[in-house]
Amino acid sequence: DGDKFVRIHEVGPRDGLQNEPNVISVADKVALIDMLSGSGLRDIEVGSFVSPKWVPQMADSDQVLAQMTPAPEVRYAVLVPNMRGWEGFVAARQPDVTYEVAVFISASEGFSRSNLNCSIAESVERLLPVVQAAQDAGIALRGYISCVTDCPFDGPVAPDAVAQAASLLRAAAPMPLSLGDTIGKATPDRVTAMLRAVLDVAPVDDIAGHFHDTGGQALANIAASMDMGVRAFDSSVAGLGGCPYAPGASGNVATESVLEMLHAQGFETGINEEVIAKAAAFARGLR
Ligand code: HMG
Ligand code: MG
Repeated sequence: DGDKFVRIHEVGPRDGLQNEPNVISVADKVALIDMLSGSGLRDIEVGSFVSPKWVPQMADSDQVLAQMTPAPEVRYAVLVPNMRGWEGFVAARQPDVTYEVAVFISASEGFSRSNLNCSIAESVERLLPVVQAAQDAGIALRGYISCVTDCPFDGPVAPDAVAQAASLLRAAAPMPLSLGDTIGKATPDRVTAMLRAVLDVAPVDDIAGHFHDTGGQALANIAASMDMGVRAFDSSVAGLGGCPYAPGASGNVATESVLEMLHAQGFETGINEEVIAKAAAFARGLR
């Protein structure tokens, strides 16, 4: 039953570790990714090709990509903000591995400025050549939209602003979208209103929810999204995470909590909770 399957995108090695104050070695990052690769996950985000001055924790993503042991059934995602990042990814990738290139914009101008040092419109201009390059190389794309209900700088974000951001990305390519509650302030009713607006411009099968758990509402927001038909969610093993350019952002919703909730409700993920628990224990030891 297709409707019973929920796709989990593990983002801990990227969204989680990008915000860790401790320096985490390449070997530890690779060990975490390799553990996760054996869990049944189909999507694991493993790094970012962004400026090392902006996010020093991701400066070694090239080494992580080169040293990890890819599993054939897993697609490995990386964040790429511009052509410089694309070139870094191309130089680091291994042959015969399925990758996904994730581009990212904000639904709010304040966060765009803080995270990408440019306006929303400018950020879209910069990602267009990345989208083209990925399409030419036959690599899957994903589009992140941050601040889908709240911005740490601009306050509440209107559902229409998120739909507009979604339209901008979908005009670049018909890519799946991950809708980010970057600072974990969303509530189920506001998630529902936001999704209503976005579903006017993108099919539900192309939507993922990306909830940070600062306000303790992430599971409730996932449930609200499920009610709207969303069947893909991002989560971080051990609830690692945050965003260095979003003051107050805490971790992503924990993968093990999402699995527990979904499996208890009879949904299938294909993911082994015991393997995730072991990876979570390892991840906690890195903090
Ligand atoms: P900038 O300073 O405006 O741009 O940064 P620039 O082009 O002037 O470049 C500045 C320096 O960075 C130059 O070096 C460039 O060469 C270098 P310098 O001449 O000063 O020595 N540079 C790069 N180096 C490596 N890789 C690159 C790259 N590009 C430029 N790709 C830029 C613009 C986009 C680069 C910067 O703002 C940046 O890296 N931002 C990324 C911030 C980030 O990674 N944030 C976290 C990810 S988003 C997130 O977490 C949200 C999400 O989880 C969803 C949610 O929760 O909402 C996805
Ligand atoms: Mg995030």
